[in-house]
Amino acid sequence: MHVPAARIVFSPEDRAEIASATTEILSTGAMTLGAHTKEFEAAFAAAHAAPFAVAVSSGTAALEIILRSLDVQGADVVLPTNTFAATAFAVLRAGATPVFADVNPDTFALSAATVEAAVTPNTKAVVIVHIGGLIPPDIGELAKFCADRGLALVEDAAHAHGCRHGDTLAGSFGVAGAFSFYPTKVITSNEGGMIVTADPAIHEAAVVYRDQGKAGFLGNTHIREGYAWRLSEMHAVTGKVHLRHLDEFLAVRARAAARYDAAVDALDGVSRLRLPAGHVSNFYKYIVLPRPGVDRARLKKELKERHGVSLSGEVYEAPLHQQPVFSSYAGRPLPIAEDLCARHVCLPIHSDMTDAEADHVVTSLAAALASLDLGR
Ligand SMILES: Cc1ncc(COP(=O)(O)O)c(C=O)c1O
Repeated sequence: MHVPAARIVFSPEDRAEIASATTEILSTGAMTLGAHTKEFEAAFAAAHAAPFAVAVSSGTAALEIILRSLDVQGADVVLPTNTFAATAFAVLRAGATPVFADVNPDTFALSAATVEAAVTPNTKAVVIVHIGGLIPPDIGELAKFCADRGLALVEDAAHAHGCRHGDTLAGSFGVAGAFSFYPTKVITSNEGGMIVTADPAIHEAAVVYRDQGKAGFLGNTHIREGYAWRLSEMHAVTGKVHLRHLDEFLAVRARAAARYDAAVDALDGVSRLRLPAGHVSNFYKYIVLPRPGVDRARLKKELKERHGVSLSGEVYEAPLHQQPVFSSYAGRPLPIAEDLCARHVCLPIHSDMTDAEADHVVTSLAAALASLDLGR
């Protein structure tokens, strides 16, 4: 059996609906900021119990727009070093300085303690990243830490469509949340992003920023330094159709994850991220940590060549403070993130994964670990 690293799921009916909407968009000429965008925004807001949603061209744009709306220019913004470069690029493009913080080993994410160790007198905002679709169960402590110091808490929810901790959905723990619809994400619009917020001022600013800072779609008065951050109607219709499957995708992914949990817990020498009670994850990534000393490259090669299992890419192979482009922002070592980035692997997980595929992955993992041990 071959299990691929990724699989993007659009049913024949979805493809036909998107193709027919594309024909309509091409014939009417209503190509941007039209009815499909409005419907996508309304459906995304409803799915995340958020008062407002604003569709934009990418997750990176969503983050930059939120940070610009918070007027972080000239200030410091604390973010985890264990994130995608886009989180830090958005901070830089919004005119702020990224300050990298270490992460909690139980969640791969920021905690109040790791932010406290990084925060500066000039810090205006903190960006938390829900790695692999896990909202850190201690996010309430971080929200309180930020509120006590007047810091804005922003969620980079690029991984977290439909994730929930208690009664609160991703995007609603801080002032605003940024989602990505890049093709590998649980919901995709080909490319695209979404801002969710309960703050009318952020909502209003975001609508202006995404369309060249114009006061209104039809006017020509520019009131903010905006950009071409619109989502096209073809992208919006793709996202709208895909989003209808969110609950079903989450259920399939949770079923595969449950099989992985049971098998990983029975193995020596590997641990996994644990979900707290009352938590819903979309399992954007299923993360396991082989014990220190396991050669990740050899494990991946063994799984692929002997068992036909392609692991999905690492969440982040190296933390941002060790990336050349951010060398001038690297401070002290951030040892927890350095270790997690170097050691973890991600088992493949798809929105249409079968039980047989999930079982093959874990049987193969056990066999590959055993053969690496024998070869030590
Ligand atoms: C954590 C994180 N932040 C931001 C982004 C940027 O999203 P996009 O590629 O849609 O700009 C991504 C994804 O690609 C991401 O994984």
